[in-house]
Amino acid sequence: MKPNPWIKNVPLYEPGRPLEEVARELGLPDISALVKTASNENELGPSPKAIVAMQQAATSMHRYPDGACFYLKQKLAEKLQVTPEHILFGNGSNEIIEFLGHAFLGPEANMVVSETAFVVYRLVSALFNATCIQVPMQAFTHDLRAMRAAITPQTQMIVVCNPNNPTGTSVAPEQLTNWIATIPADVLIVIDEAYYEMMPIEIRPDLLALIRAGQPNLMILRTFSKAYGLAGLRLGYAIAAPTLITLLNHTRQPFNINAMAQAGALAALDDDEHLTRSYDVNQEGIAFFEKFLTEAGIPFVPTTANFVLMKTGDARTDCKRLLAQGIIARPMQGYGLPEWIRLTVGKPLQNQKMRTALLEITLTAQ
Ligand SMILES: Cc1ncc(COP(=O)(O)O)c(C=O)c1O
Repeated sequence: MKPNPWIKNVPLYEPGRPLEEVARELGLPDISALVKTASNENELGPSPKAIVAMQQAATSMHRYPDGACFYLKQKLAEKLQVTPEHILFGNGSNEIIEFLGHAFLGPEANMVVSETAFVVYRLVSALFNATCIQVPMQAFTHDLRAMRAAITPQTQMIVVCNPNNPTGTSVAPEQLTNWIATIPADVLIVIDEAYYEMMPIEIRPDLLALIRAGQPNLMILRTFSKAYGLAGLRLGYAIAAPTLITLLNHTRQPFNINAMAQAGALAALDDDEHLTRSYDVNQEGIAFFEKFLTEAGIPFVPTTANFVLMKTGDARTDCKRLLAQGIIARPMQGYGLPEWIRLTVGKPLQNQKMRTALLEITLTAQ
């Protein structure tokens, strides 16, 4: 056997342990005493309508799913005011990032991203033995000008994660739109809007307008994993010009979206109430976090998503100490930020628990 030599250099993603195992080790009776705040999920859970639809769909699981996602695509297209031909679904938006690798990356190619952007871009670049050009951020925010300047003749795509995970920052909408107009036509611009529905409404860019107007080299990525509370279903989507969508369709498996995901997402799209509640709970949570972090003198990056990046001192140790109190947080040393941790904003009681634990670990560290 001769595996592709670069494969062993693709970093392995470190999965979290099952919650049941963590609870058992901490001597907790069940997982309800844990606050899982490491993966930017929606603590309100799935939409109740989606739960009912998935329960109903369970009896049809002997059938293969609709490989074209006909109804889901139609409904989403209507909601976004684009055509179904503008949409492609992935097994999570992560899978679409991999499709992009299949279609565009290889040993001669590079992609441009920010240094502290979502890790999966780097992983996919490594998977296809491409070069990932990582541009330093300015004050934890994308330096769009420097990113554009980093483009070379070998650049196939440039990815802007907006809001950015793990920093939580966004770029101003007009700045982003103006910047898109300056990118060479032969470079694909990918804007990852995984947290779009959690962003403050007044700073959401309207990039769909560019897609509707026919921008040929722009792709937006979104997901049902965050505000929709359906991370376990693995469902994300791309919106782009039909020619780009057709191209990526060549890279996917025929049944990449399972039938349960299609049923749940169809119903979730009908539940604006759940989406609004998720948004409101998140906004209240952010206000709570930013107030107590300011009062406690814990440095943090003001967020536009559903998580907060904060500097507690020693990320690994701090996350261990938080875990001892039942709080599963994410240390950021993998992003070159060994003093920083990231916590997902939750429901009020969970936020209170995180506050108490954070105050304890930061006060006793001083
Ligand atoms: C910026 C960003 N993009 C994409 C994803 C992946 O989302 P999905 O669950 O749709 O694969 C995440 C998940 O954390 C994310 O933070």
